[in-house]
Amino acid sequence: EKGGYDHFMLKEIFEQPQTIYDCLRGRLDAEKGTITMSGIQKYAEQIMNANRIIMVACGTSWHAGLVAEYIFEELCRINVEVEYASEFRYRNPVINKGDVIIAISQSGETADTLVAIENAKKQGAIILGVVNVVGSSISRVSDGGAYTHAGPEIGVASTKAFTAQLAVLTMIALKIGYEKGTLDKDRYMRLLDELNSVPDKVKVVLEQQERIKALAEKYKDASDALFLGRGYNFPVALEGALKLKEISYIHAEGYPAAEMKHGPIALVDENLPVVFVATKDSYHEKVISNMQEIKARKGKVIAVITEGDEHSTSLADDVIEVPEADEIVAPMLSVIPLQLLSYYVGVAKGYDVDKPRNLAKSVTVE
Ligand code: F6R
Repeated sequence: EKGGYDHFMLKEIFEQPQTIYDCLRGRLDAEKGTITMSGIQKYAEQIMNANRIIMVACGTSWHAGLVAEYIFEELCRINVEVEYASEFRYRNPVINKGDVIIAISQSGETADTLVAIENAKKQGAIILGVVNVVGSSISRVSDGGAYTHAGPEIGVASTKAFTAQLAVLTMIALKIGYEKGTLDKDRYMRLLDELNSVPDKVKVVLEQQERIKALAEKYKDASDALFLGRGYNFPVALEGALKLKEISYIHAEGYPAAEMKHGPIALVDENLPVVFVATKDSYHEKVISNMQEIKARKGKVIAVITEGDEHSTSLADDVIEVPEADEIVAPMLSVIPLQLLSYYVGVAKGYDVDKPRNLAKSVTVE
């Protein structure tokens, strides 16, 4: 049932070209320039006119919400907030009629996310679910939404569900932005093509399996690691750190790259691996200077970069290349090496990567 792979986690990482494809299939038509999502279409007017969108989720799904915040604000010019479900539900949040809540959940059963949307629904919010498990509690409470169609995720650490969430959220943003007029036709058509080409580009990233495995061997004895990124890649840094913690039990923290100056840089010495998510985008020059600051303090820089980016290569101790892509879709590529890195570190340390200690696949108690 692991399809020849040693672990479900590896199988699910390698399924991503297919799961992203499945998620786009039947929805995105890049030639006609259409995105068909009936569970979103019904609420398109309300989403377009929403004062704000609130993404509610936990863990990895919360990271997908953070990426979506950047995408929705850019393409749809709608104010977005991203909330930890556990905080949102107890905070007595201000919810106005017509606020749009997007609940993001692989399992559809996460207790905090479920109660958060039940509360918000009573207060008149529209609830959209971006959920993987069909017929799950969160999907039933939601007014509309879209399934991620990633198939069953068995590994406790979320991998393919995350990239499918990003694919769905990106499609929603593209659809709404285009219908609203905040996204012009040229960019819209270009982004449809970009999204369509993600599955093939993920395949290219996966070809670096052996190289990433070697990096895992090299860094597996680190006691801590820092993950840094800016913009669309900032949430990817958070996700990279979460994956490493879960799977390899190495203490890791993710930060916006510029924020390190405000504290975490004190940790940097020759023993600290610092993983930069540094693909070429509108933030790139800034990330490069953050990389230089780490090098100046003798940190070990591992960088996820765009193919052929020689400047970053010259600064980093180790690089992992991903194909060039628009910054809107880049997180679906840049997260893949981080999933593989945590997987191989966990395996190298002899841990049970499919069932990390103390963790459950779905957190149905608060
Ligand atoms: C991390 C992970 C968890 C889940 C979180 C939310 O690898 O799997 O952080 O993302 O428990 O779960 P769902 O998405 O099922 O609501």
